[in-house]
Amino acid sequence: MAPIEKNEQPKYLEGDIKASALELIGNTPLVALDRLYTGPGRILAKCEFMNPGASIKCRSSLSMINRAIASGELKPGEPVVEITSGNQGCGLAVVCAVLGHPLTLAMSKGNSAQRALHMEALGAKCVRVDQVEGTYGNVTYADVKAVEEVGMKIVEEQNAYFVNQFHNEANADAHYKSTGPEIWKQTGHHVDAFVATVGTSGTFAGTSRYLKEQNPDIKTYVVEPAGAEAIAGCPITKPLHLLQGSGYGWIPDLFKFEHMDGTLSVTDEEAVKYMKLVGEKEGLYVGYTSGANVAAAVKLLESGLIPEDAWVVTLLNDTGLKYTPVPEELFK
Ligand SMILES: Cc1ncc(COP(=O)(O)O)c(C=O)c1O
Repeated sequence: MAPIEKNEQPKYLEGDIKASALELIGNTPLVALDRLYTGPGRILAKCEFMNPGASIKCRSSLSMINRAIASGELKPGEPVVEITSGNQGCGLAVVCAVLGHPLTLAMSKGNSAQRALHMEALGAKCVRVDQVEGTYGNVTYADVKAVEEVGMKIVEEQNAYFVNQFHNEANADAHYKSTGPEIWKQTGHHVDAFVATVGTSGTFAGTSRYLKEQNPDIKTYVVEPAGAEAIAGCPITKPLHLLQGSGYGWIPDLFKFEHMDGTLSVTDEEAVKYMKLVGEKEGLYVGYTSGANVAAAVKLLESGLIPEDAWVVTLLNDTGLKYTPVPEELFK
């Protein structure tokens, strides 16, 4: 082998090689849904299903773990625990696999079983918690509280670092520092409105804050399941809905009204209709909250609240593969 010349890079650093899966998080493409919505306005969507955990929650996973390591709360090799609807768990499983932290996740049995399989394939342990009132595919506030109880016991038993996505500012910061700036750059600063579903509100709060700081005229709308519109201030009449990971019927701590111009409600039928249309017209197989986001973007463009030729940015939060039925015997 010839000696390495001065200033010559060693072979393993040549070309375009990512050092680990962590470098696959974020910088997702922005795609125009021009076949689904033919104008005069436009719907532009971030392909968050392309993150290594196949959802938007990889961004907050990396941000929260990095923050815990930097603050000294999480030391090398120490255990990590989180309560999750599944996507946060998959994101944390990516990050903890690469950084070498044992990870345990508590998740409702009402959340898609595919997510549990995904986490476990990445070396995490998923504890599936019985539902209190919901049904498979529909997870309520009471179900989340039951998962919280189990999760907190595991934190204590393992003396683990508790990620605490609902109350962790590094969750919203991930979107303030990545999702927002990416949208601003990818649109060439041409954004008229932003719409997103809310679970922890990390995505909505961080992205909206960044976009409004760049241009206060950008309109931002929360997308809520019809009948579970807590942010709109409506009574909760339908806590069961298909928008897993969002619409829990309460106002999350990370949510700030000052970053929001209004809310849009979407029925299960509308979410499913647009989920299918994104697949059939755009060639992208996405999940229910992605369908809800696109349905809401169409509603907004047709509402008269913004100019009809406006550009509305939204998110394709996760892949439809997370909801494709799997045989129950895989969990025995
Ligand atoms: C599929 C899906 N969409 C949307 C969200 C909401 O994201 P956030 O918690 O940032 O509000 C989640 C959160 O888990 C999710 O899993």
